[in-house]
Amino acid sequence: MKILLGVTGCIGAYKAAEVLRGLQKAGAQVRVVMTRHATEFMRPLTFEALSGQPVIVEMFDRPNYSTIEHITVAREADLLLVAPATANIIAKFAHGMADDFLSTVYLSNTNPVLIAPAMNVEMWNHPTTQANIEILRKLGVMFVDPGEGYQACGEVGVGRLAEPEEIVQRALEILQMRGEDSGLPVSEKPQDPESAFYNAQSEDFLGEHVMITAGPTVEDLDPVRFITNRSSGKMGYAMAEAARDRGASVTLISGPVRLQPPAGIEPVIVRSAKEMYEAVMSRLADITVFIGCAAVADFRAAKSSPQKIKKQGRKAITIELEETEDIIKAVGAYPNHNGRIVVGFAAESQSLLENAEKKLREKRLDLVVANDITQIDAGFDVETNAATIIKRDGSRIELPLQGKREMADRVLDEIASLRWIVTK
Ligand code: PMT
Repeated sequence: MKILLGVTGCIGAYKAAEVLRGLQKAGAQVRVVMTRHATEFMRPLTFEALSGQPVIVEMFDRPNYSTIEHITVAREADLLLVAPATANIIAKFAHGMADDFLSTVYLSNTNPVLIAPAMNVEMWNHPTTQANIEILRKLGVMFVDPGEGYQACGEVGVGRLAEPEEIVQRALEILQMRGEDSGLPVSEKPQDPESAFYNAQSEDFLGEHVMITAGPTVEDLDPVRFITNRSSGKMGYAMAEAARDRGASVTLISGPVRLQPPAGIEPVIVRSAKEMYEAVMSRLADITVFIGCAAVADFRAAKSSPQKIKKQGRKAITIELEETEDIIKAVGAYPNHNGRIVVGFAAESQSLLENAEKKLREKRLDLVVANDITQIDAGFDVETNAATIIKRDGSRIELPLQGKREMADRVLDEIASLRWIVTK
């Protein structure tokens, strides 16, 4: 099955990468068309890397340009999916305007169209937008309605892009209704490199056994109180999903989080730094890549009280804290790392690169992902992240704000490039 994925310009554009991955996982070949505004939010390169195909943005200025490409691309696809779709593209579709590649493809398309809108609540509620949607519905265009919640503009209401899983599910349902699914995983499908949908996605982690720590640890003070942090596990779970998709066998060691584990991965759930340490060390033998994404507590109560600590008229109390086990330092301490690649994350609120480099050296890491947690929408408990990868040779790679799943793939790309050096 071949899907043409249109991406338009709004903050939810990063989620299109997750939609793309979800479709690929289901065996679809995906080709991406972006509007010019979408490229302000996501770089075409990201979608090119994920889809293995050039991304189309402009009508005319591409090499190998064919004057009828909008027709051939539209004809080759079994479904035109636009996610996220702005009020602007919906208006253009509704009124037959064709002033860029995506709107021109829509007009030349005879296959089903599925639209996942995303916009500010007032724009969504505006009678013009609702009238445009009505026009399209009457023409047979299908919608995955937006969700309700907190919006990037600070307002609360309907307009958030539906979750990527829901969009993928709906797309697959439409294709199944049309009998498009051959049932073959993508790797077994005959592929024509000449086709606009040729899928060059690789399984470059086949044979690797990747262990990932994720989420927070919880250090009990007494039966009701504890010390923890704001890690949601999203970054670590995204790493696990990406490694799985690239062919790795994955061991996920997770602190308590509220996430569904990626399909096919049964996480080992732990609570404290000590439990995480034991879970890691007892499973380390076969691990070829270790990724410490967890926000492990540095300190725990020297004595956790078996009974609830009582106030007993005191105005203040002192709790003595002791150092926890440094898990990644223990993994990195093996001579030559036992041939495995050891990757750490560093969440810093000041002197980001200096502190991350210090951790790289002191914990003997091969690579550290330095998270600037002062940046809006990066770090703890958000969907996106921004970081600098620092390698042992001092080289640095900037990762601008992007979805955590997308970042997970960029980190894996750098790990893959180290593999050659380590095994040489
Ligand atoms: O979970 P999310 O909400 O998605 O947020 C993601 C994240 C911000 C937690 C993640 O991207 C991240 O940056 N994780 C590292 C958090 C951190 O502050 O690490 P650190 O600087 O304390 O430790 C550096 C490295 O040592 C990390 O790889 C850590 O896992 C490891 N470590 C730290 C202490 C310890 N006792 N044992 C360890 O293994």
